[in-house]
Amino acid sequence: MRQVFFYMAFFLIYLSSGAQTSPKYALVIHGGAGVMSEKSMTSEIQNEYLRVLNKALQVGDSVLLHGGTCLDAVEKTIIILEDSPLFNAGKGAVFTHEGTIELDASVMDGKTLAAGAVSGIKDIRNPISLARTVMEKSEHVFLTGIGASQFAVEQGFKTVENSYFFTEKRYKSLQELLKKEREPATGDKHGTVGCVALDTFGNIAAGTSTGGMTNKKYGRVGDSPVIGAGTYANNQTGGFSCTGHGEFYIRLGFSRDISAMMEYRKMNIRKACRAEIDKLTKMGGTGGVIGLDRKGNIAMEFNTSGMFRGYIKSNGEKEVAIFK
Ligand code: GLY
Repeated sequence: MRQVFFYMAFFLIYLSSGAQTSPKYALVIHGGAGVMSEKSMTSEIQNEYLRVLNKALQVGDSVLLHGGTCLDAVEKTIIILEDSPLFNAGKGAVFTHEGTIELDASVMDGKTLAAGAVSGIKDIRNPISLARTVMEKSEHVFLTGIGASQFAVEQGFKTVENSYFFTEKRYKSLQELLKKEREPATGDKHGTVGCVALDTFGNIAAGTSTGGMTNKKYGRVGDSPVIGAGTYANNQTGGFSCTGHGEFYIRLGFSRDISAMMEYRKMNIRKACRAEIDKLTKMGGTGGVIGLDRKGNIAMEFNTSGMFRGYIKSNGEKEVAIFK
């Protein structure tokens, strides 16, 4: 009898530890948060977004399933989103006031706290790969503009014409804002992409890529390439990638603040992400954040009516969604 009791107690402790459900790997993505409703988006467009989000999840899943690292998963997943004209990153990026495209991206390795970031990129197709190369092949964290492109060429990157990034939809958004002489902050600020991955080695990485805001001026840079604002990863807490009105995220030190709440206040990832979104709301900012911790717990929080998002885990759990 005592033996049965012992085994039952052991089994209950095992269950409550969550060990039986902890996935071997997990991956979460976003494609931007903003004002969106089912009515304002045709089912064809919704399906196209869902198709690309699913494809990105599949690519990341395949990397992790085959024993790839979280950094490989983050980079390859984000490349799918950068190469799609749907999102405000890479091919689908928004226009600056001058009618050019300037891209920002960053990546962080939660095991070593190494990081790489680039901003103001005009001629590199996949800025996320350049950010990773800055992290791995330079002694710096953050390179910008022409210098970043010089570094890219030295590292063997092929350049593209700035016109490669042209899309009719984004061009129209700029023309509308120019006509109304509206400030960048009121313009098209949705569609930043990001990914956070936990690999089978227990390591976490996060990355973010964006075109910034339509009609941005004066070399404006948002939160996406700023480590601790738009991107942060630490194996001890979690990894995070943000989307939204960048100025607020920089002022809050958004993603680092979430990590700090988890580290010092022992908050779980969802509570910490929610608390940070509440701070954003109080300040008047809009946007969202995705995150995951070392147990593969997922957070996808936002204060807008929608966020393109999804996650996948080794245990078969999966979700892809757009609206609240
Ligand atoms: N969150 C992207 C930006 O503000 O540039």
